[in-house]
Amino acid sequence: TLKLGVLGSGSGSNMQAIMDAIDAGTLNAEIVLVLSDNEDAYILERARKAGLRAEVIDCGGFKTKFPDDKQAEVARRLKEAGVELVCLAGFMRLVKQPMLDAYPERILNIHPSLLPNYPGLMAWKQAVEDGAAESGCTVHYVDAGMDTGPIIEQAKVPVLADDTAETLHARIQVEEHRLYPEVISQFVGK
Ligand code: GAR
Repeated sequence: TLKLGVLGSGSGSNMQAIMDAIDAGTLNAEIVLVLSDNEDAYILERARKAGLRAEVIDCGGFKTKFPDDKQAEVARRLKEAGVELVCLAGFMRLVKQPMLDAYPERILNIHPSLLPNYPGLMAWKQAVEDGAAESGCTVHYVDAGMDTGPIIEQAKVPVLADDTAETLHARIQVEEHRLYPEVISQFVGK
């Protein structure tokens, strides 16, 4: 049983998809720790309702910065909880060396575009505004860049003529919820 740590800043629907796959028996894993940099994020409530251990990362008042000492502390907390694979699921801060060194090739991210297209924030909105014909999602290894790490798998969705940022994001999320648990399952036993 692969021990997962999940980091998120938002609603946690991707974490929910991971939980559902575990419950369904298609993913032989266990979420042992959920961390959020936003104490009001629904991901924490969602996790606690499901009886998971869920805690806050205090970034010391910084809005987007994730200071090195905090990253080292998070790495320590993940290790102490026995986390083997770290899954970023809507986590909005850049992970850097203290965490990357603690979990080499063991930190994954899901991003709502076909990388290398549209890295960064609100990738679904970027795709609509750019007039892209298709978009999708990418699961990749995290490296020190922003959404630049080696790609593991992608799923495509069409962009429709009447799409808004929201309707496209909803279509992408359906694929995210399928793809992320499937890619995580590839790490079981490795
Ligand atoms: C997801 O669409 C994820 O791909 C995206 O945030 C959303 C989180 O949703 N991540 C990024 O944009 C990372 N740069 P969730 O909290 O419901 O899983």
